[in-house]
Amino acid sequence: MKRKILVGNWKMNKTIAETIDFVNKVNEKALKVREEELIVGIAPSFLCLPVLRKLANGIVCFAQNVHFADNGAYTGEISPLMLQEIGVNASLVGHSERRQYFNETNETCNKKLKTLEKYNFNGLYCVGETLKEYEEGLTKEVIKKQVLEGIEGLSVEYISRLTIAYEPVWSIGTGKNASKEIASEICWYISEVISEKYGKEVGDLVYVLYGGSVKPENIKDYVNDSNIDGALVGGASLKAESFLQMIDNLLE
Ligand code: PGA
Repeated sequence: MKRKILVGNWKMNKTIAETIDFVNKVNEKALKVREEELIVGIAPSFLCLPVLRKLANGIVCFAQNVHFADNGAYTGEISPLMLQEIGVNASLVGHSERRQYFNETNETCNKKLKTLEKYNFNGLYCVGETLKEYEEGLTKEVIKKQVLEGIEGLSVEYISRLTIAYEPVWSIGTGKNASKEIASEICWYISEVISEKYGKEVGDLVYVLYGGSVKPENIKDYVNDSNIDGALVGGASLKAESFLQMIDNLLE
């Protein structure tokens, strides 16, 4: 059986002091639930990564973004080499806010995932359709394109250990979570798209998470579904109490 995964994406929230406070409240539990096959991760800002990495031995540290080059004239960017130096070896790629506000495309996501493979980082690749695409019935078409273009050229071994998060853009930060049925179908579809191209064994190994207005009250509905391996959570991951509640509800 696959382990379950719960990752909190803090976006541009929390100072170093707030990060330390969160870790003090959550780390022990995060360490303990590993025995129950739940992996807990947090993606803080770059500034908070070193302190999280240092203090939180029960929490997997994710960067929210990474550049595809090793170094160079890319003002404001961070490369995997820099992350590696502080002991971070996992990153989100292609979050819808990166796609929307920072012009990330499937092509740049693909470059980033290739760099993550080169540095042996764990990748959490985000995909999801906009409200307009959803209303026009284009969800599967969009998801298929994002998935296949994003992972193009990666080795089958690397694809097998990838995590993909289905996050419909219309459900992120809106309180309008996708129904369990939609989330289940699209998470299943993501595995199916990978199985079709790379073989069922690979499709079965890829982890597929749901994200979009997940909170303590609804997390269980998603994570109990056999097509969904866990959750990527924004708003509800910011308060330690709500994060701990999600861990409890998920394992209940
Ligand atoms: P939300 O964000 O849980 O606040 O909807 C999810 C995400 O952006 O990953």
